[in-house]
Amino acid sequence: MKVQIVGLGNVGRSLLELMLEEKAAISCLGLDFNVVSISDSNGSVIDEEGIDLKSVIDRKRGKWLGCEDYHIGYKAIDAIRSVDSDLVVELTPSTRSGEPGLSHIATSLKLGKNVVTANKGPLVAQYDYLRELSNGNGAKLLYEATVSAQLPIFCLLDSCFIVDKVEKLEGIFNATTNFIIGEVESGKTFEQALDHAIKAGWAETNYSDDVDGVDSARKLVILANTLYDSHSKLEDVEVKGIRGIEPLVNEARGLKKKVKLLCELSRVQGAVRMTVSPKMFPLDDPFATINQGNMGVRFTFKNSQEIFISAQFNSPRQTAYAVLNDMIKADK
Ligand SMILES: NC(=O)c1ccc[n+]([C@@H]2O[C@H](COP(=O)([O-])OP(=O)(O)OC[C@H]3O[C@@H](n4cnc5c(N)ncnc54)[C@H](OP(=O)(O)O)[C@@H]3O)[C@@H](O)[C@H]2O)c1
Repeated sequence: MKVQIVGLGNVGRSLLELMLEEKAAISCLGLDFNVVSISDSNGSVIDEEGIDLKSVIDRKRGKWLGCEDYHIGYKAIDAIRSVDSDLVVELTPSTRSGEPGLSHIATSLKLGKNVVTANKGPLVAQYDYLRELSNGNGAKLLYEATVSAQLPIFCLLDSCFIVDKVEKLEGIFNATTNFIIGEVESGKTFEQALDHAIKAGWAETNYSDDVDGVDSARKLVILANTLYDSHSKLEDVEVKGIRGIEPLVNEARGLKKKVKLLCELSRVQGAVRMTVSPKMFPLDDPFATINQGNMGVRFTFKNSQEIFISAQFNSPRQTAYAVLNDMIKADK
């Protein structure tokens, strides 16, 4: 399978490492990923015979110095248009407008190329459009990593609950808010906890999307559109973040409960409801154990009652693993 990779940051680099390490396991599946172009924000490496992935990791680290096959200014969108491939893996930064990922994904789908992405932005901005392009051109669009990195939500629903319906989904999808709430529980103010989260690398200096619940709301929009085909937008989510969380944490402590920033998605008589807000959980509720980088989801099904899954988020390698899994699924 000819593959183009767009974005060679934390996830892109981890993906190349995984593809090298798991080459034998991948070929046991009868698959051979032949990477024919890799683009970053400044240019692209192109080799229609197949790029040596090990050398790319080293050369990117060396800022492509002296690399004649790295074409400065040759944009990802041009590579998508001009290089023959079966699959485009889109791993550029997530933005509100969805760009540049939106153009990369839309162009790929229009050309009938399958797409795998970890980038939420395009799916939140233009889910219906991208779904239409995918269906209309017979090209797959897979995005397991967008909602909670390696936590297998779409995979699980697709393979284990084929005719069941999710009546309600609750999730903790944001590691930054988990960390901050944990720090407030240990006695810090919200501001002190935020400051510590930034210094410890859990929060970015541009932390607003995380603490105000917008990052969680984006994930809910992707879930709602995928599960219910609901044409949902970010504005449809009722969002309350965790600023000024101290009184709720103190109240919870007195009640022997824990506070978490919870995402809730439900469909009642055809109406989809999406909320993000801090909630209290008794200590024996599995959500009470979701700390720091953990993420968890509870599904309430029509026929199979409740299922709870959780995972510890450690590194972009786990995100890359979800991307690799989708790449394998794209061939099926
Ligand atoms: N990190 C995670 O574990 C994680 C988890 C879930 C989802 N995601 C999502 O996965 C995506 C990638 O995350 P990341 O952590 O790998 O991001 P990152 O480290 O910031 O890397 C982004 C990459 O995209 C490249 N890029 C930016 N604009 C581009 C353009 N116009 N054309 C081509 N390439 C462009 C950058 O190029 P330069 O190298 O030249 O700057 C960089 O290589 C994001 O959408 C993120 O939200 C990440």
